[in-house]
Amino acid sequence: MSKEVLVTGGAGFIGSHTVIQLTQAGYTPIIVDNFSNSSPVCLTRLEEITGQKIKYYEADILDTPALSEIFKKHDFQFVIHFAALKAVGESVSVPLKYYKVNVGGTVNLVEVMSQYGCKNLIFSSSATVYGAPQYLPLDEVHPTGVGITNPYGQTKHVNECVLRDLAKSDSEWNIVLLRYFNPVGAHKSGMIGEDPKDIPNNLMPYVSQTAIGRRECLSVFGSDYDTPDGTGVRDYIHVVDLAEGHVKALNKLEESCGLKVYNLGTGNGYSVLDIVNAFSKASGKEVPYKLVGRRAGDVASCYSDPALAKTELNWVAERGLDEMCEDAWHWQSKNPNGFETPPPGKL
Ligand code: UD1
Repeated sequence: MSKEVLVTGGAGFIGSHTVIQLTQAGYTPIIVDNFSNSSPVCLTRLEEITGQKIKYYEADILDTPALSEIFKKHDFQFVIHFAALKAVGESVSVPLKYYKVNVGGTVNLVEVMSQYGCKNLIFSSSATVYGAPQYLPLDEVHPTGVGITNPYGQTKHVNECVLRDLAKSDSEWNIVLLRYFNPVGAHKSGMIGEDPKDIPNNLMPYVSQTAIGRRECLSVFGSDYDTPDGTGVRDYIHVVDLAEGHVKALNKLEESCGLKVYNLGTGNGYSVLDIVNAFSKASGKEVPYKLVGRRAGDVASCYSDPALAKTELNWVAERGLDEMCEDAWHWQSKNPNGFETPPPGKL
């Protein structure tokens, strides 16, 4: 029988792409989402893409009785925990909300998992745990928890600590912490993609909304960094590559791996202006931009050493920057208003 995988936040950007890869690998994903920053329309799209019924529950990870009920109904072998809040600026103004949902939600989830004897977890962590890089590229032994500039980043770090302690306390737990670099792009179908509810905080959705005419002009935050063109350099990774990394991590859990940590990145750094140029090429649209001051908390450069995931997970990112931009544009141009776009006759 196909193994059931609970996917918290499975209607979100990374979660939804992972659900597709899970079905393709023969797993049965079961989604739990409260739709606080996602749309139920995504679920319909997932069914169209996979040709399968996708089971989901509208529930909050802070709602212990609801989670228990879901665990009672299923035989989860694994949990992939994406559900979290992720707006960096908001986390500075309302930190308690972030600690409650991101840290409280994780503690809640692993308690329920424990009660039901499911002790295999993949956790969505972030390169943000490395703080300001002490050296580049960032490998997994780079110090973490030092110089993190916002509560959102702290919650990722604290969750890593919680899960590390949990794994130490009970050898039955198998936990993979995946540290994502900058996920972008979209599924080839153009039916699902990133759909920020508000003004985008992140670069790629802002660029694509500018190209489609929803935003007037991109502000490039800082042009005096110590980088080739003065703008910030990041490791952008195609979300489908990232999703595939989760399936590889499940294989690792199957080996009873204990606690493991992997970067998921490409190892390549691109500047803000590289992204603007690549996106213009992919979309055939101009992306108007202006150079403005630095954004508080940003670092000049951040990119991964992805070697460990290659050796231990047999995973490498395969899709390049042009494909990331083409797929992001395909999604954006088919769905100018994200999941709120009324479906055209044929997608
Ligand atoms: C940000 C978060 C990081 C989080 C990640 C989640 C900060 C400081 N970091 O990463 O903690 O894990 O999102 O996706 O917020 N840029 C512009 N104009 C824009 C937006 C961004 O020039 O309108 C620049 C930034 O200065 C940066 C690059 O684009 O150099 C990437 O920014 P972004 O997409 O926000 O990602 P990170 O800052 O790397």
